[in-house]
Amino acid sequence: MDRLQKVIANYGYCSRRKAEEFILNGKVKVNGEIIRTLGTKVGSKDIIEVEGNILEKDEKIYILLNKPRGVVTTTSDDKKRKTVIDIVNVDKRIYPVGRLDYDTTGLLILTNDGELTNLLLHPKNKVEKLYVAKIEGIIKPENIMKLKKGILLDGLKTSPAKVKLKKIDKKNKTSIIELVIHEGKNHQVKRMFEAVGHKVLKLKRERIAFLDLKGLNSGEYRYLSPKEVKTIYSEFSKEDR
Ligand code: URA
Repeated sequence: MDRLQKVIANYGYCSRRKAEEFILNGKVKVNGEIIRTLGTKVGSKDIIEVEGNILEKDEKIYILLNKPRGVVTTTSDDKKRKTVIDIVNVDKRIYPVGRLDYDTTGLLILTNDGELTNLLLHPKNKVEKLYVAKIEGIIKPENIMKLKKGILLDGLKTSPAKVKLKKIDKKNKTSIIELVIHEGKNHQVKRMFEAVGHKVLKLKRERIAFLDLKGLNSGEYRYLSPKEVKTIYSEFSKEDR
């Protein structure tokens, strides 16, 4: 048994907050009866209706994409730019877990599993993400230290990061840095580097938790194995939320 708003969100119908709104506004029926109480427990046999739509169990899909540059991480784009959904050839409604910028490349998960999405994005779970950034300029050790300790963004300090200097190109005055963070603030990596005076020229996400890009060229994708999905659940759903 689970809370009604959580179940609605996990069907992928809408966000949990929106589901709460629907419940409070009398737009949700369970087994034909309007339910207005948030937190009502429902089980797998209950028939749930939202705004007149009966929620059907959908087969779950999990895709790991190596996102190329010049693609937006949304399901549709009003400027008619190519989206990550255009790249993958599935006929089910799926959506990206988190976001990569238009010019950022690398690992992106797409799914219709709201629960797995929550597990990967919930700050409490501190899911590690590894980025490789090519930046303008030769980075100084003290700036690496600052990145490691945390940077003030929007008045809040970022959590300590793992930072490794991979390469310095003295001729072209660029550096390549590996950065592991678990937060996901908007444009976080670019803003962290900008805060220490370096423009990011290229950014690639190479790992999320234990998932990496092995075997995938830019623009290619694969399905997660049942074992990988199970591991995400067991690693990150240690407590019920
Ligand atoms: N940080 C950024 O600045 N951009 C991304 O796309 C991902 C993380």
